[in-house]
Amino acid sequence: MHKKLQSQGTWIGKWTFIFAATGSAVGLGNIWGFPYKAGTEGGAAFVLIYLLCIVVIGIPIMISEILIGRRYGNSPINAMKKSGIESGKSGVWALVGWIGIIAGILILSFYSVIAGICLNYIYISAFPSGQEASAQFGEVISSPINLIFWHTVFMALTMWIVSAGVKDGIGRIVKILMPMLGFLLIFMVFYAVLKGEFLKALSFLFAPDFSKITTSTFLTAMGQAFFSLSLGMGSIMAYGAYMSKDQKIITTSFSVGSLDTLIAVLAGLAIFPIVFAFNTGLGEGPGLVFVSLSEAFNQMNFGRIIGPLFFILLSVAALSSSISILEPGVAYLAEEGFLRREISAIVISLLCWFIGIGTALGFNILSTVDDLGESVNPILNSLELISVQILQPLGGLLIAIFVGWFMKEALIKSELGNVNKIIYSSWRFFIKFVAPLAVGFIFLSQILPESFLVQVKEFFLSLFN
Ligand code: PHE
Repeated sequence: MHKKLQSQGTWIGKWTFIFAATGSAVGLGNIWGFPYKAGTEGGAAFVLIYLLCIVVIGIPIMISEILIGRRYGNSPINAMKKSGIESGKSGVWALVGWIGIIAGILILSFYSVIAGICLNYIYISAFPSGQEASAQFGEVISSPINLIFWHTVFMALTMWIVSAGVKDGIGRIVKILMPMLGFLLIFMVFYAVLKGEFLKALSFLFAPDFSKITTSTFLTAMGQAFFSLSLGMGSIMAYGAYMSKDQKIITTSFSVGSLDTLIAVLAGLAIFPIVFAFNTGLGEGPGLVFVSLSEAFNQMNFGRIIGPLFFILLSVAALSSSISILEPGVAYLAEEGFLRREISAIVISLLCWFIGIGTALGFNILSTVDDLGESVNPILNSLELISVQILQPLGGLLIAIFVGWFMKEALIKSELGNVNKIIYSSWRFFIKFVAPLAVGFIFLSQILPESFLVQVKEFFLSLFN
């Protein structure tokens, strides 16, 4: 146990953690995932459950992950192992770290394919072929070679940055480019206000129709909250290990959580007015952001400059997330001294690259057709189900249970520093009871008979009437 693990560094400067954690959180999840899931899961009811999950489950777990990561300064596997032991419990808690690494490998495998499509769109939006946006997207995903090529490029970039180590590069890129992405999104929202069906979009996103809620809405919304905040699989814990001791964990978690939510909502406000105005198809699925925004870029003045700029920034946002997905596994192999950091990055990346080919083929030769006649990517769907909707919430549930019930409170208090009593007790209440019950209930709802759930739903609806 007391063998020396090799340190993977600390962030330079106090702000770097916030930028890096925000870089991890803000990515395709916000701009690609959130709108497309809101589109297929019925809009505002999904958005409401998603927001609840962020507050009730996400932020309390983020605080827990950062505090464990920072206290032990190791990769999630070793951090969980040491924290189990230091709290007088067992080292089996390392299992949480292992779940995270498996989730991370699966997530990165499809993340890289979608991010590859973003890279491809930098070029496409600069030199549009004159086709309709949806036909154009169809062409992009119909070619396995094309998708695999861009997936390879993106995976190589991720591997290269991670192998260089967290001290260099990451923080610096994110500091400049993330605010730019934010401004460009705000610009797109203005465009949508002027040219799109803004009011329709507002009501789609914010006026919930509870009859649209099904059990899958809960599972998708919860998974999306974990995915978007990078929780339950070690990324935030791994970054926490490099956070300086004088930074406040609770305030930082709120800042990262709010920024992440803001970007997702802005993306929705930029995309849906255009979807309604140009009829590009609400239930478009994974193609939603590419089709709707390309339509806007095709119509607007300077679209050939703004379009590529947007996709460059989105690719960078994806890169600052993908490196954080790769980090926990690489940090583990490197700190144990099993492999050099560079070699660890190559090995895990190759694995993700290989699995990613499945997602690339799922868009074309392996695609299937759903009940509504839309073609779907069965591999992407299964990977998202296993990693985002099951493994991430499971990892999060275990972290909440560990911190709420097993970790020594003195350790927690010393790591959180001076916090207001009310804030501390509320967080404690959320992590002990609310978050585990909420995740547990959503999991359970997937296997309970529908008739029972209908009764629960009617009970809640009656509270509103
Ligand atoms: N949060 C990232 C996004 O929204 C994706 C991610 C998932 C990053 C899991 C790290 C861990 O794009």
